[in-house]
Amino acid sequence: MLNNRPLALVTGASSGIGYHLAKCCALNGFNLLVVANEPFIEESAKSLRALGVDVVAVQADLSTSEGVAKTYEAARGRPIAALLANAGRGLGKGFLDQDFSAARHVIDTNISGTLELIHRVGREMRALNGGRILITGSIAGFTPGTFQAVYNGTKAFVDSFAVALRHELSHSGISVTCLLPGLTDTLFFERADLMDTQMGQSENKADPAEVAQAGFDAMMKGESHIITGAANKVQAMLANVMPADLLAERHRAQAFPGSGIP
Ligand SMILES: NC(=O)c1ccc[n+]([C@@H]2O[C@H](COP(=O)([O-])OP(=O)(O)OC[C@H]3O[C@@H](n4cnc5c(N)ncnc54)[C@H](OP(=O)(O)O)[C@@H]3O)[C@@H](O)[C@H]2O)c1
Repeated sequence: MLNNRPLALVTGASSGIGYHLAKCCALNGFNLLVVANEPFIEESAKSLRALGVDVVAVQADLSTSEGVAKTYEAARGRPIAALLANAGRGLGKGFLDQDFSAARHVIDTNISGTLELIHRVGREMRALNGGRILITGSIAGFTPGTFQAVYNGTKAFVDSFAVALRHELSHSGISVTCLLPGLTDTLFFERADLMDTQMGQSENKADPAEVAQAGFDAMMKGESHIITGAANKVQAMLANVMPADLLAERHRAQAFPGSGIP
């Protein structure tokens, strides 16, 4: 590292929301440790370096303990001032039609790997009496995800975990913030095999740069959570009062395979 800026660790920083979260960190005085599973993370790191900050890129599968350890060790003992645990993936189609190894990979990435990294970095932050943690959850966590059942389940877990952890750490100097986006225009839908659905074809997806900026601002203010976009705030309110069966049927219309083909 060439300078003394604080270090932000951003996972899933090769594209979409994570790339823009990393950019927000760079533009606001952080050096970066950026992580993703595919070699493309090197390209993203190159464009982040152009912002004048030090960037270390790590290629690691955060669904595994080895990937989490590789990521943590890449900090080489430098304190992590901010952890933006954003890496995640979706998976469309009916549960029984999914390849179970793909479903497990979603669970291992979105839940197990995310928690293992937060556990390691969180202990270090606690020893240093401070730090910021941003976790990318989703408003999908408020709705049983018919034809995206595993993904929505993982986000329900993460959304809940973030609030609980925040309260466990309320006197520790560590803030925990949950970013709760709705549909956002990223590679997520293609990777989740959702492009033939209404959800995948929706033209009302949010700009990932705006979603990331809102998440970054909430993290810096130490807020509990941020639901991005007015329509998503309404959707979240409705999810609190509508019966789960009704929510699950509404989700079917959005995620049913072929629902996006005219
Ligand atoms: N897009 C939406 O509508 C939406 C809405 C609500 C919440 N979210 C959440 O936002 C987060 C970011 O998703 P996105 O929409 O920005 O999608 P994206 O463009 O597909 O980005 C996902 C990022 O996570 C990384 N990643 C996935 N699995 C990984 C693994 N096992 N190990 C390491 N890195 C991994 C990807 O890297 P590789 O390409 O190298 O695998 C990529 O950098 C996710 O947690 C997602 O659940 C998205």
